Amino acid sequence: MFGYRRHHRRTLAYGMFQPEDHGLAAKNARVLERIYHKGQRLAWDGKEVLDALIAEHGPPTMPEETKQALGRVFAIIMWGELAAWRISAELADEIEPLEPKMAATSQAHDEARHFYVMHDYLEALGALPDGIDPGARRVLEGVMNADSLAKKLLGMQLMVEPLALTLFHVVKRLDLEPVLTHLLPYYERDEARHVALGVQYLPALLEGGGLLASLDILQYQFQLITWQLWSSYGVARDVATLGLDPRELVRVGKGKQLAALRQVFHDSPVPVSFPESIFNRYVESVVELTLPDPTGARSLTTRIRRAIQAAVSPIELQEVDVDPGIRDDQVPLIRGLGADDDPREPAMEAV
Ligand SMILES: [Fe+2]
Ligand SMILES: [Fe+2]
Repeated sequence: MFGYRRHHRRTLAYGMFQPEDHGLAAKNARVLERIYHKGQRLAWDGKEVLDALIAEHGPPTMPEETKQALGRVFAIIMWGELAAWRISAELADEIEPLEPKMAATSQAHDEARHFYVMHDYLEALGALPDGIDPGARRVLEGVMNADSLAKKLLGMQLMVEPLALTLFHVVKRLDLEPVLTHLLPYYERDEARHVALGVQYLPALLEGGGLLASLDILQYQFQLITWQLWSSYGVARDVATLGLDPRELVRVGKGKQLAALRQVFHDSPVPVSFPESIFNRYVESVVELTLPDPTGARSLTTRIRRAIQAAVSPIELQEVDVDPGIRDDQVPLIRGLGADDDPREPAMEAV
């Protein structure tokens, strides 16, 4: 009975052209509008790109053990793309002001492409997953079922997307096989725009929430981080099989999340400041307890001692740039490249 469900009454938003009435500064509105136009101009044809890469490099292949590990790790990416697609479509529907609505609509188009291309790639590799790591499933469903738009935007664009960017970046550097290595920059280029949507629009969504709303958001962030750490533990063995250090992956992901969140909260009037030091101590102690130690220490007492040490004096928390810095020559099949100064697009500082 999927089709027969009552919806709340929908109305036309006559106030959608006044971003300031929705707490959105005119400057941020212009950036958001530009995200849409850039998304349209820089959209790539997923079928064309994957077919061209396979024609150039041959069908993707890798040793069986690596393939299985990659399939399990990238199952999180594939289902994550579906979650991102659904969340951005929901944002596109529910956001009222015009400019962020356009940016979210553009993101939904990108994520649909990311989802089917990842599915087609994994199928071509023979590594199509039949499930997903339970921790990662909790993260994605936790964001999809969050009880406010602000939490969905914060969770997806600023906490999950930076982790996806981390994985794309490190897997690309591993160069496991050429089709994937040349495909990932196309993803990275798009994802950076999605982080920008969160950075530009979240302050407007959070404005006027008050202390209780801030505490609610913090609790939600800690919940997501806990599930993310559970997921890191769940995929640690596969990550190591691929040739990556699971601890390093967590640290780079943490640094990118931090950079994205600092962009939102750094000069925002919103009374939510991410308690970075607590976050860092928490992540580092859980990492010491759960992830394989590069020195090979396995005993529980050693792990507990190091976890306490990490909580008392953690390693320094360092930002890692969220901008993947993809050069045009890494994504030659994006047709709209080279027209960055399109005079029809509103001016914008970043993105
Ligand atoms: Fe995506
Ligand atoms: Fe995305």
